[in-house]
Amino acid sequence: MSFDSDELRLFDEALAHLRAGFDGLPPADASVDYARLREALMAAAERMRDNFPYHHPLYVGQMLKPPHPVARLAYQLAMHVNPNNHALDGGRASSAMEKEAVADIARMVGWETHLGHLCGGGTVANFEALWVARELAPRKAVAASAQAHYTHARWSGVLSVPFVSIDVDAHGRMDVNALLRTLERGDVGTVVATLGTTAAGAVDPLPEILALAREYHARVHVDAAYGGYFALAGNLEPATRAAFDAMRDADSIVIDPHKHGLQPYGCGCVLYRDPSVGRFYRHDSPYTYFTSNELHLGEISLECSRPGASAVALWTTMRMLPLERGGEFARGLERGREAALELCVALRDDGRFAPLFPPELDIVVWVVRAQTASQASARAREAFDAAARRDLHLALATFPRTMAEPCGAVQEWDSSEVVCLRACVMKPEHREWIPEIVKRLCASL
Ligand SMILES: Cc1ncc(COP(=O)(O)O)c(C=O)c1O
Repeated sequence: MSFDSDELRLFDEALAHLRAGFDGLPPADASVDYARLREALMAAAERMRDNFPYHHPLYVGQMLKPPHPVARLAYQLAMHVNPNNHALDGGRASSAMEKEAVADIARMVGWETHLGHLCGGGTVANFEALWVARELAPRKAVAASAQAHYTHARWSGVLSVPFVSIDVDAHGRMDVNALLRTLERGDVGTVVATLGTTAAGAVDPLPEILALAREYHARVHVDAAYGGYFALAGNLEPATRAAFDAMRDADSIVIDPHKHGLQPYGCGCVLYRDPSVGRFYRHDSPYTYFTSNELHLGEISLECSRPGASAVALWTTMRMLPLERGGEFARGLERGREAALELCVALRDDGRFAPLFPPELDIVVWVVRAQTASQASARAREAFDAAARRDLHLALATFPRTMAEPCGAVQEWDSSEVVCLRACVMKPEHREWIPEIVKRLCASL
């Protein structure tokens, strides 16, 4: 986690090179009181100790992945000029870097032309996509699966469009028969397909969803905030692979570099297949857009000020770790999936646990076997606490009976849902840590 001395040396070298670009200016460095700086920084270090160890492989709770050192260094480097990617006036180089980085993500899904930009994260990115969808089909409903991120229902409310929740199958994927019944009503303007649900990493059957949506003249938005980069993974099941391959036929896509793209928080990305939707963003800004006639990213984004440093960090990471199938970055994702499969096997072998279903990506969810659903939930909570005392940080997630019953871990359903244990094994090094994780988990029950 720490910047080691080699990294700091490289950083100094890069910063000196950057500073030399402004050599002609008179010196204007602000002076800093180092004693007070130290006091404040140490106070922050003390406060930040009150955290779960998100950076460590024994943390498998939420979707948290430490940024790659190249991202941290590049972000810090960009801080020296602190560009604002609203307009070329405030972030000339970083805007160009954002356009290049976003184009690379678009190419990853098979788009040579697109409209897109970075934004604060998956929530804002999905909002923009649903807003564009509403502009294209005002008053029409948004349909997303019952396992889709809550943001879709919430934004539909904000946008004053109806929201329809579509049932899922036992693996947490959108049930296409249920979708068909909804589309037959004739009032759906947009279907949201989730490629990698937040709770279980389930991948909706995009080819079938696209076929139905096209038949009923609905738009398809893909929320791949968490799963999008798995388009590069070479070890997916055929149906999952087909869903990622079909992304190219969607109308809009959200992929979060701050989830699987090794970036610090504050880096989401929204993409549109048809660049002409940029017309909905059109607005006047009398105080910016004056240094160039080229596209200013603020002209195609709902946010005004945005961190140019995010774009610099992403661009630099992708230069070191290009988005290539078979490349080092893709290998990192493949290792997470291998870790998930290995964890799933170990849970089955133990006998006291029952995975809901084999992981499609790198999230594993499992029930603690018990006579009743309430007992299984209570045992999951106990194991969660006991594991944390052993420095193994898991997550809890509640699933409906329809998804949990098929694994056969509960004999009597005295509740309509059950609390499960959940692990996001999304760090590449998790593969080596699975035996230790399993050992601590098994000792926690
Ligand atoms: C599928 C999906 N969509 C949207 C979001 C929201 O993204 P963010 O937390 O970056 O706003 C998440 C977050 O986990 C997610 O998993």
